[in-house]
Amino acid sequence: MPLTSILRADPETRRLDWWREARFGMFIHWGLYAVPAGVWKGQDTPGLGEWIMGRFKIPVPEYEKLAKEFNPVRFNARAWVKLAKDAGMKYLIITSKHHDGFAMFDSACSDYDIVDATPWGKDPMKALAKECAKAGIKLGFYYSQSQDWHDPDGMGNGWDYKDEKKKDFDRYLKHKCIPQLTELLTGYGPISIIWFDTPCKITEQQSLRLKRHVHKLQPDCLVSGRIGNELGDYGSLGDNQRPPGAVEGDWETPCTLNDTWAFKTKDKNWKSVKVLLELLASCAGKGVNYLLNVGPTAEGVIPKVSVNRLKAVGDWLKVNGEAIYGTTGSPFPYEHGWGRITCKKGKLYLLIIKWPRGTFVLPGLRNRVKGARILGDERTPVTVTQSHSKKRDEHVIELTLPRKKPDTYVSVVELSIVGTADADQMPLQQPDGSVNLAVHMATP
Ligand code: GLC
Repeated sequence: MPLTSILRADPETRRLDWWREARFGMFIHWGLYAVPAGVWKGQDTPGLGEWIMGRFKIPVPEYEKLAKEFNPVRFNARAWVKLAKDAGMKYLIITSKHHDGFAMFDSACSDYDIVDATPWGKDPMKALAKECAKAGIKLGFYYSQSQDWHDPDGMGNGWDYKDEKKKDFDRYLKHKCIPQLTELLTGYGPISIIWFDTPCKITEQQSLRLKRHVHKLQPDCLVSGRIGNELGDYGSLGDNQRPPGAVEGDWETPCTLNDTWAFKTKDKNWKSVKVLLELLASCAGKGVNYLLNVGPTAEGVIPKVSVNRLKAVGDWLKVNGEAIYGTTGSPFPYEHGWGRITCKKGKLYLLIIKWPRGTFVLPGLRNRVKGARILGDERTPVTVTQSHSKKRDEHVIELTLPRKKPDTYVSVVELSIVGTADADQMPLQQPDGSVNLAVHMATP
């Protein structure tokens, strides 16, 4: 089944224009869970840091006490937004309320929010909205619409609120979720996305109600695919998930830098710059937006290891951004062992991870190639030879490339082509002898 068929077409896709161009965004998971940072009463939490309350079934009154310890005196909205900008990210989505139910903004719905319940007493979203506007970064809010472990009517807390029959999710929507969405969409200027998550048992009517509410208050604001019931303005793939080939339609993958979203002191399994760039190339090559996460500490600091990696990604994008921003996925129905492909009108980008020795051969591109250049290296000439076997209707392109790879991680060769990229849809044998049969090409 093609992935597109699980997303219903919305005629109102104009609001997606900037998002399609952006391709790369910053996710921020920040909340009370940054205080225990993965350790509760001496015990390490398995898995995700922001799930600590759920994993240990921490009773509400006990978890609430974390608010008193949350004092992010080192929070600096300008530095966070600058990091996103330096990393080449075009939008920023931050947790305004995660499953634990704690509002990271000033909310009149209850006192369980960062302004009323913490010694710090400030609304970080105000500062972030201001800095994002200045820097030209689109701001979006993650909002857990179904799971709310603090509220007796929210989903997910079966340890404090055991009797499912007593729960009234409509009441929850009415007294907390919808009023808080109103606050988020009226108090912080233009909001680009409400990033809903884990729909759980939300009904189609309820998802629709939320979507309409968002669009009524801010018609240009997108809602993520995880609003439930296939009602997102675009599709959200699973966490860290990448499809086996290019997808049609609008999709995004949220990705972690290590193995958690929220900060965990003990999670040091950081992805290398090489892996991050390969993932960025891979997402773009499949037509998928890459939403890469950072988890700041309870003091309000984005760990240095994350900062360094993101800056390196940004340095790469300064040279090679043309191959990512505003592109669509590869026109080929399978992946190539040497790297990834992106394209836009008149251009095809070869994002080469395994640099070839001497000649680079690409079978199956049907467009006429007018020229080629290496991004970031205008001086080294690239010769293009094109051939077409009439008998087999086989198109082959050969490029002579320098011996030394131009980039440590992913080198980009831009082909100027006539028209829109058009590739042979048959699986073709590659110069190294392989034939890549992607899963989605099989018939059941
Ligand atoms: C999952 C988790 C959540 C995290 C999200 C990010 O749905 O429940 O903790 O925020 O993925 O994509």
